[in-house]
Amino acid sequence: MARIAAIIVLALVSVATPAVAEDSREVAVRTAPQRGFILNQMRLFLGSVQVIVSALAEGDMKAVAEQAAARGRKGTPLSAIPPGMKANETPAWLAMMGGARAGFDDIAASATDPSATPLKLMGMLGDTMKNCVACHQAYRFAVE
Ligand code: HEC
Repeated sequence: MARIAAIIVLALVSVATPAVAEDSREVAVRTAPQRGFILNQMRLFLGSVQVIVSALAEGDMKAVAEQAAARGRKGTPLSAIPPGMKANETPAWLAMMGGARAGFDDIAASATDPSATPLKLMGMLGDTMKNCVACHQAYRFAVE
């Protein structure tokens, strides 16, 4: 009897807590200016991905190189970065952000190589975007 009750309780709990309601992402605490800066960088990431995909479809390697370089490691002026950013960044965060930036640098370099095809660059963009997907699965923001 106790066993049946336990099964019923388990069944009710699983109905009451659907997986979609849970958010198991780690909280990344940032100041309001840091969060605003990062989200702006995120929108730039998305905008550049759109431009790169369209430019690849048209074989416009110059536009690909420009957009990719703008999102690479040297794309953001140091003076634009809010204070205290580094202190809040975990090794996993740094690895995924670094991976995304390095991926855009690699795309920019390949876009200036005459032997590189749009298909190859599309594959590189897909690999670079694994960092976007992984980080979005890992973190959400909270403002301190
Ligand atoms: C190192 C972590 C990390 C990487 C890498 C990353 N993101 Fe994000 N992104 C975040 C976090 C955290 C948020 C906010 C999520 C939340 O709070 O729910 C976010 C939010 C966004 C948003 C929403 C912006 C807004 O104004 O609300 C967009 C769009 C976005 N990311 C695009 C991208 C794209 C495209 C890439 C890859 C080229 C990327 N991100 C790479 C961590 C990352």
